[in-house]
Amino acid sequence: MLQRQEIRQQVRHLRRALTDEQQAQAAEQLAELALNYAPLTAAQNIALFLSVDGELNTRPLIARLWHLKKTVCLPVLHPFSPGNLLFLRYSPDTPLQTNKLRIPEPPLDIRQLITLDQLDLMMVPLVAFDHAGQRLGMGGGFYDRTLQNWRQHGFLPVGLAHDCQQVDSLPVAEWDVPLPAVMTPSKLWQWE
Ligand SMILES: Nc1ncnc2c1ncn2[C@@H]1O[C@H](COP(=O)(O)OP(=O)(O)OP(=O)(O)O)[C@@H](O)[C@H]1O
Ligand SMILES: [Mg+2]
Repeated sequence: MLQRQEIRQQVRHLRRALTDEQQAQAAEQLAELALNYAPLTAAQNIALFLSVDGELNTRPLIARLWHLKKTVCLPVLHPFSPGNLLFLRYSPDTPLQTNKLRIPEPPLDIRQLITLDQLDLMMVPLVAFDHAGQRLGMGGGFYDRTLQNWRQHGFLPVGLAHDCQQVDSLPVAEWDVPLPAVMTPSKLWQWE
């Protein structure tokens, strides 16, 4: 477990050290790659996340998905099921509020709820990924729970990261769910 924390610390430091210009270029390149990715162009309901802590900025991609009339959803901390996420529709006029993890999220309006079964594709945040598609997150287990039965739900999880977030090999816990794909500004990685 110590090793997991060390990797988190190192990689979070690396991505926070990217300059504004590097961040802007990465976000542009990623949006370009994403919009040429067949599963994304085919998708209508797409879960994304708002970037914090040096994560690749998803804003340029979100703006283009709105322009294409796609439904963009964001994760919201579940109000009474600890460690779980709900996904709510996010539109240009949706107000955002900061949750207890200091991440902006849409207000909990059940009319905007999109179930996992309704999602077509989920862009998944991560701290590090390895050459086998294993994923290390911030340590809450939120996405491990969300991704548990992704095949049955019928959506495709795609990790989103800077190139510097790739590591050779991650220690894997029994509850960790590997990703079938990870997109970085320079490359699409696929494992199945
Ligand atoms: N499916 C699950 N059911 C119950 N607990 C889980 C599940 N998945 C993960 N957890 C718990 O969540 C905790 C954190 O898991 P882990 O360190 O893998 O988080 P992470 O993958 O880095 O975070 P995240 O998924 O939020 O990005 C673990 O202690 C684990 O017990
Ligand atoms: Mg995990």
